[in-house]
Amino acid sequence: MTRLARFILGLLVALALLTWTVSGVVQTTTREWFERDVSEHARLAMVSATRSLADAWYDPDGLKNRLLAIDRNQHVIGVAACNVDLTTRSMTPDLPEVFRCQALGAWVRAAGTAAGDTNPKLQQWSTIATLPTGRVYVAAMPVIMQGQILGFVILAHDLSYIQRREARAQTFLLIVFGFLAVLAFGVPLLVARRVRDDWSTEVRKLLHGGGKKQPREFQPILSDVRELIARMADEREDLPGQWTADRLRQILNRNLHGEKIVILANREPYSHIRGEDGGIEVQHPASGLVTALEPIMRACSGVWVAHGSGNADRETVDRSDHVRVPPEEESYHIRRIWLSEEEQQGHYYGFSNEGLWPLCHIAHTRPTFRAEDWEYYKQVNQKFSDAVCEEVDSEDPIIMVEDYHFALAPAMIRKRMPAATIIAFWHIPWPNAERMGICPWHNEILEGLLGSSIIGFHTQLHCNNFLDSVDRYLETRRDREQNAVIMHGQRTLVRPYPISLEWPVHWAEMSPEPGECRARVFQELGLKPDALLGLGVDRLDYTKGIEERLAAVEMLLDRYPKFRGRFTFVQLAEPSRTKITRYRDLNEAVELLAKRINDRFGAEDYRPVVLLRSHHEPPEVFRYYRAADLCYVSSLHDGMNLVAKEFVAARTDLRGVLILSEFTGAAQELTEALIVNPYDLVKSSDALAAALSMPEEEQLDRMQAMRSMISRFNVYRWAGKMLVDAAHLRSQERLSGRLAERMPVGANL
Ligand code: F6P
Repeated sequence: MTRLARFILGLLVALALLTWTVSGVVQTTTREWFERDVSEHARLAMVSATRSLADAWYDPDGLKNRLLAIDRNQHVIGVAACNVDLTTRSMTPDLPEVFRCQALGAWVRAAGTAAGDTNPKLQQWSTIATLPTGRVYVAAMPVIMQGQILGFVILAHDLSYIQRREARAQTFLLIVFGFLAVLAFGVPLLVARRVRDDWSTEVRKLLHGGGKKQPREFQPILSDVRELIARMADEREDLPGQWTADRLRQILNRNLHGEKIVILANREPYSHIRGEDGGIEVQHPASGLVTALEPIMRACSGVWVAHGSGNADRETVDRSDHVRVPPEEESYHIRRIWLSEEEQQGHYYGFSNEGLWPLCHIAHTRPTFRAEDWEYYKQVNQKFSDAVCEEVDSEDPIIMVEDYHFALAPAMIRKRMPAATIIAFWHIPWPNAERMGICPWHNEILEGLLGSSIIGFHTQLHCNNFLDSVDRYLETRRDREQNAVIMHGQRTLVRPYPISLEWPVHWAEMSPEPGECRARVFQELGLKPDALLGLGVDRLDYTKGIEERLAAVEMLLDRYPKFRGRFTFVQLAEPSRTKITRYRDLNEAVELLAKRINDRFGAEDYRPVVLLRSHHEPPEVFRYYRAADLCYVSSLHDGMNLVAKEFVAARTDLRGVLILSEFTGAAQELTEALIVNPYDLVKSSDALAAALSMPEEEQLDRMQAMRSMISRFNVYRWAGKMLVDAAHLRSQERLSGRLAERMPVGANL
């Protein structure tokens, strides 16, 4: 039964019950009123009748005539004069048999009346009876003359007319209620139908491009409809395996006319390092940004403008500071920018990593903002922006500006290239507006970012925080339907684009089989064949929750003795930003913690925690991913965290369990991981125990679901969606630019 039918049925039953109750009450009340009226009327009639009957008591004809005169009254059906012994003295013909003189016997006897007496108890008798002809009211009264009872008079009144009136009242009531019911259903239904028709006509008109102006009340539904259409279009494109490097290339060719991409990111995808043997080696920096963007550059080609940070970088570039990468494939260029010690200190260590990094992460490290760092931040942003402008080969290039190191670059580039499509992506969380206010240069940061065409974040929450910050600190206009900010006539879309990995991940494809990886790692670490292996992979950063992670391992060994001697946790920890005191402190703290756990639970042939503090190249990291029983990502706050996704991508054998902090962007997507609050050591240790005891079948189910998610929502889709949005924006701008040229000056577009 439909919801409407259920509603109408319910309403009908309620109305029927109401009608039934009301008509019952009305019937009883009106009957009482009528009967009271009739009895009063009868009493008055009899009082006046008894006087004239007494006068004619001994005159049979006179008595008869008076009885007939009474009988002619409306609704009187019979009247009789009775002797004291209850024999009939005179009577009209229609008096019903049962109410003739003998019927008074009980009343008279009860009063104990003898003939001729007056008796105060013998005032009036009455009753209502139901005869086959209808209800009848019968009353009797003594006929008295000079204090002597001569006899009695009986008067019968027809009450059936009252029943007829009741029936008429009931019918009227039913008609009224029926009418009300029709009104109650019909009017709202008609109004609702009318409103719905108006809405759908209006929405259809607007969706088909009609309607000069969108009425305010339609805007939310229209943006929902558009979003839905976009999502459906996405889903059509998001079939498994659909988003590939080829598809991304096609998008670039079809929608953006094959323009090459210029990426601006502080970290380079390949650095050249002079090894101990004197030779030059290529290194892959440990960076989520690089993991995600490098496959995009391989697919699309172009230039990656980055800081040349390797100690042999200068030796490997050409005269214009370019180097072709990846080695052997050489599908795109890195343009290396050289920074002085002071520039690095002020820009990278100072403002970026002692200011913005702790500002944006809720990890309880106080941000430090120094005026001299800010000066270097501006200077370095300008230097990189100039380099980007040198690398483009058209007036409207596509430029991707990555991360918090370059918040000012979009506006700087826009100044030199007004027609550029600039896509800024913020790889870390964006704090709430109040917290953003801590930064003394929050306005400049926001204005710098609003130089871009699109600003992307991993999650909607971070988009909202950004938009709140803009609302709070800048004079701008908001286009809520498009999620855009308009500043000085320049429109910037603010959208979530959760970053991901290439699919399949080529490092996983190049790795040995998981069984072989496990055997090698077990051998390297000297683990027994029945050992259980946990893994953490991070830069040594206080946002990653490494101390909490090791504390959870300690708690596991405390609370679950069965894992002592069997469970080993390996932490691959890449030293990072070690010129900053907070990072050096963390280094020491982690080392001390690992030592404490090993002292407490270790033995000659058993080390519960293995801390490997050095750079690990991807093949080695993937070997560990494939060897481990579990991977624990315990970030205290993280924009996305690609280690979590890499672990899943590495597990082609569908084995292993991911334990994931709820404070990562990845936790919103990898819901089949064991999601934990890393601050809650008891629950985290329970999750470690659950992971170590999880049946293979459950591991397989969880891993399969997560792999399917990542394979569909891979990094080609991430970049593809941003490029498609950029292409739409670009064509809109071109169209409105053309229109503006044709319109008279001052016309409102
Ligand atoms: O998480 C933000 C981020 O820029 C990542 O994109 C990257 O993985 C990491 O920081 C690298 O930091 P750095 O370049 O300072 O080594």
